[in-house]
Amino acid sequence: MAQLWGGRFTKETDQLVYNFNASISFDQKFYRQDIRGSIAHVTMLAAAGILTDDEKDRIIDGLNGILRDVENGSLEITMEYEDIHSFVEANLIDRIGDVGKKLHTGRSRNDQVALDMRLYTRDEIIEIRSLVIDLLEVLHKLMKEHVGTYMPGFTHLQKAQPITFAHHIGAYMEMFKRDYGRLNDIYNRMNYCPLGAGALAGTTYPLDRDLTAKLLDFEGPTLNSMDSVADRDYVIELLAALSTIMMHLSRFSEEIIIWNSNEYQFVELDDAYSTGSSIMPQKKNPDIAELVRGKTGRVYGSLMSLLTTMKGIPLAYNKDMQEDKELTFDAIDTVKGCISLFTGMISTMHLNEEVMKKSAMNGFTNATDAADYLVNHGVPFRDAHGIVGQLVLYCLDKNISLEQMSLEEYKAISPIFENDIYEAISLDTCVGKRNTIGAPGPDAMQKVLDINEAFLKQIKEG
Ligand code: ARG
Repeated sequence: MAQLWGGRFTKETDQLVYNFNASISFDQKFYRQDIRGSIAHVTMLAAAGILTDDEKDRIIDGLNGILRDVENGSLEITMEYEDIHSFVEANLIDRIGDVGKKLHTGRSRNDQVALDMRLYTRDEIIEIRSLVIDLLEVLHKLMKEHVGTYMPGFTHLQKAQPITFAHHIGAYMEMFKRDYGRLNDIYNRMNYCPLGAGALAGTTYPLDRDLTAKLLDFEGPTLNSMDSVADRDYVIELLAALSTIMMHLSRFSEEIIIWNSNEYQFVELDDAYSTGSSIMPQKKNPDIAELVRGKTGRVYGSLMSLLTTMKGIPLAYNKDMQEDKELTFDAIDTVKGCISLFTGMISTMHLNEEVMKKSAMNGFTNATDAADYLVNHGVPFRDAHGIVGQLVLYCLDKNISLEQMSLEEYKAISPIFENDIYEAISLDTCVGKRNTIGAPGPDAMQKVLDINEAFLKQIKEG
């Protein structure tokens, strides 16, 4: 047991207690952030005259050596240390002797862990953001390719009106653009440095908190030392944003599973992204989409778990907060894996455009347009709705589509119909005339594509 405390204790910690308390098995994940924070801390201690330059240099050399050796595998992070902070400090003292004992001057593990968690989540936000950008690019490419690919749009999973694949994908484009924005917002709100808050009440040393904040690329120091060590809002916000990303991926997965089903056959997932059955040789299953849908529950669980952990904690630090880590790490790793796999899956997915188009032509997706035709000829919409309802009933009876009715049959239901009804209810017209911004028509779609193109360019540069 390697602990940073013990002076006031007369007995060894019980082994079970030690195990229950220790966090090294999971907080070793942020050894890089812990060392980075320590280097900034001693740099500041020297600048403030609390350490000499020589002490600072020796400590920094020692810390860099630990970092190098952990990365190249020659120094193993083992369970004999209570947490990553103890591991780094004990190894530092081992390597450079007594001067290493000065590292923790003016610092508590409470502000240290608050810093590590912030640095870790901040790094991860940057990575997740870039995975979201990759996904947005694939979606944008699919949209550009499929402005003229017709498919039915659904409500209640019943065919409603014809749309295009670009339009359907465009809906997800908007969702993931918002997800991107949420990650940015969280980043900006969390980007303040808690180091220097001490255990809870700051320190009596003349620490330069502006300097450590600057060295670690923060906007500035946090403004209340108690809040600094007790705040995990940014983790909760991140878990909420990750849950929303998963909710979007899960809805999208659900649609892909439906489209890929034997009954729909709108799309076919690539062999590389499908799996087989151990008993049924004909099967090609969308397991990746199903797993993404399934893992959503696990990310929601992390959010609920941390919200619940935090709700009863009095100020300032309490050990409950150690529970923020495993679930956050798991949520982050899960979401990163899901976004990458999902991006690969949809970029290799094959579209059965003919099947999609045929499906758009069946199922009366142009019934609204038939009613609009009557409205354009002076019939009040409510009456037009009733007349087209009769047309649909007639077609269902004869098992034909609206396009397959003769003009005589139309006229028998309403004399207003003329030959131009066929053009008015064609797929080209139904989709092509819907050109208010946000609609599937090609002019409207082009405007959105231009906006998205500019957006992608801007976020890739920024
Ligand atoms: N392992 C602890 C955590 O994750 C580090 C902080 C410990 N602080 C303390 N006062 N015991 O929260």
